[in-house]
Amino acid sequence: MKKVQASVSNHQYRKEKGNLTPFEVYSRYSNALDISIKQLRNILSEVESNSLKILDVGCSDGLFLINSLPKEKDTEITFLEPSTDPFEKLVKNTGHNKEWECINQTFEEFYRNNKEKYDIVLASHLYHFPREGYQELLLQLISLLKDPGTLIWIERGIDEITDFKKRFKTMLLPSKYPENWTPRNYKRALEILRSEEGNTELILNNSVLRFPCTQKLNEIIAIVEFFLNIEWSSISETTQNEILEYITVRERVLNEEEGILIYRRYGN
Ligand SMILES: C[S@@+](CC[C@H](N)C(=O)[O-])C[C@H]1O[C@@H](n2cnc3c(N)ncnc32)[C@H](O)[C@@H]1O
Repeated sequence: MKKVQASVSNHQYRKEKGNLTPFEVYSRYSNALDISIKQLRNILSEVESNSLKILDVGCSDGLFLINSLPKEKDTEITFLEPSTDPFEKLVKNTGHNKEWECINQTFEEFYRNNKEKYDIVLASHLYHFPREGYQELLLQLISLLKDPGTLIWIERGIDEITDFKKRFKTMLLPSKYPENWTPRNYKRALEILRSEEGNTELILNNSVLRFPCTQKLNEIIAIVEFFLNIEWSSISETTQNEILEYITVRERVLNEEEGILIYRRYGN
């Protein structure tokens, strides 16, 4: 019998030679990023000040924020990214603007020495932080806000991808993902932010993942690996077929949800 293995090759930002990463394949077939960018641009436009001092924590190559910036705002941005490969891209993507700074550190390292405060702190899809550490992380992020200031926290919602992940991860790796395991979503962060002084708003982005046609099996596999973090080749043929059947029965469409939490601290 095959031994199911957590995937080592599907990390979002690790590129195999000449190929797209599973995250990049997924991005081709989902409109989640476009919707997120539009929403973030609206949120930033609504901030009263014409100049914004922004901290982007775990920004990757920086393009999510850069593509979301409203044209009418002047921005001074600190981009924070600890991983080497995305950091190199970040430096290229930001080099044209003297008001933008790139720091190659973890948030923990940065937080220890930082004395600056920001109008906006952006923390989007930071899945490297354990859920048990959210309370401390969120309080640290809030402490970096000016008064007034806004924290924007973005995290997956509860959707058909949640169902897909839960069903197959608990089936394939029950020791790691027991029956009561649930994929991450914005609810814990919402609970913590709502218990803090200030105002927390939740915006839900709805998007759609349309899997490629069955002839493009390699791309389907890349998307499945992206969500399951399990090597396709380590999955038994019966379960592989079950996964493909799950996708086919839904006519290759899974609805996605993302939560944007906007925590506003008001000036005195
Ligand atoms: C899933 S990506 C999200 C990228 C971007 N924020 C977005 O929403 O598109 C998470 C990023 O956080 C970075 N990261 C991992 N550990 C971190 C840490 N301790 N502090 C700051 N960033 C971290 C990773 O290198 C990665 O680029």
